[in-house]
Amino acid sequence: MSIEIIPTGAPAGAEIRGVDLAQPLDDATFAAVENAYNAHGVIFFRDQNITPEQQVAFSRRFGEIEFNIFGERWSVPGAPEIVVVSNVTEDGRPIGIRRAGENWHSDMCYAPAPPRGTMLYALEIPDLHGLTVGDTEFASAAAAWDALPAPLRQRIDGRQAIFDFSSRKRAFPLTQAERDRYPPVRHPIVRTHAWTGRKCLYVMRDDCVGIEGVETEEAEALIAALADHIVKPAFIYRHQWQAGDLLMWDNCSVQHRAIQDYDMPLRRLMHRTTMGGAVPV
Ligand code: OGA
Ligand code: MN
Repeated sequence: MSIEIIPTGAPAGAEIRGVDLAQPLDDATFAAVENAYNAHGVIFFRDQNITPEQQVAFSRRFGEIEFNIFGERWSVPGAPEIVVVSNVTEDGRPIGIRRAGENWHSDMCYAPAPPRGTMLYALEIPDLHGLTVGDTEFASAAAAWDALPAPLRQRIDGRQAIFDFSSRKRAFPLTQAERDRYPPVRHPIVRTHAWTGRKCLYVMRDDCVGIEGVETEEAEALIAALADHIVKPAFIYRHQWQAGDLLMWDNCSVQHRAIQDYDMPLRRLMHRTTMGGAVPV
């Protein structure tokens, strides 16, 4: 395969051409893909045609598949590793998780070892009179760190925030057992990327409920200011989906959100895998 990597021009994102994910990738091709993923934070492949098994096999090359509570509710029949992300309701029942991430976030930041990355394979994409809707935005938390003034860097580097799973408003009510599974955890608010060594801001307005050693009101104000900073337009890549896209993002170096500008009867259907958890440092 002759692989081509085309950066989006934004601080995150690159398209990869010349790769057919229905075929196993040789080690050299995989290494080029993984390097592009680490360097760009978001990579995508257009016009793919893959089975759930092929998506799971490709995901596993980046690390073990993570299972989460969404999969227990909405996995693909016969492929428990894949979560259905969709707005579609059939016979009055949602076929997948809806509104998976309308607000800026990094996946499973409330877990002790959040997944390295998340992969979405687009099966159906809504189209409004020829306009694509249902985009996903990605903000580079690495570029956001680079742009911080030195005094603020010094103030926050080395600090830990408390991430609380129960604090976030969700599209469905959590059971007590689900809450109990994720007690509040601490993570550094400035992470070091395991592969590139770049520093990345790791602060989310909905999930961070405090900063250790910082008085509550000041911590809340700092969390809000940093969360707003990360998602400034200069740090954003906005992905316009096409059916057949396979896209994956890095949960350390980017944050993301789904744009909810469509609804039934327009249909959006994605297959999602999450892979390779590690304790943030
Ligand atoms: C997710 C998510 C965004 C989207 O699956 O974690 O945030 O656009 N999805 O579906
Ligand atoms: Mn998400």
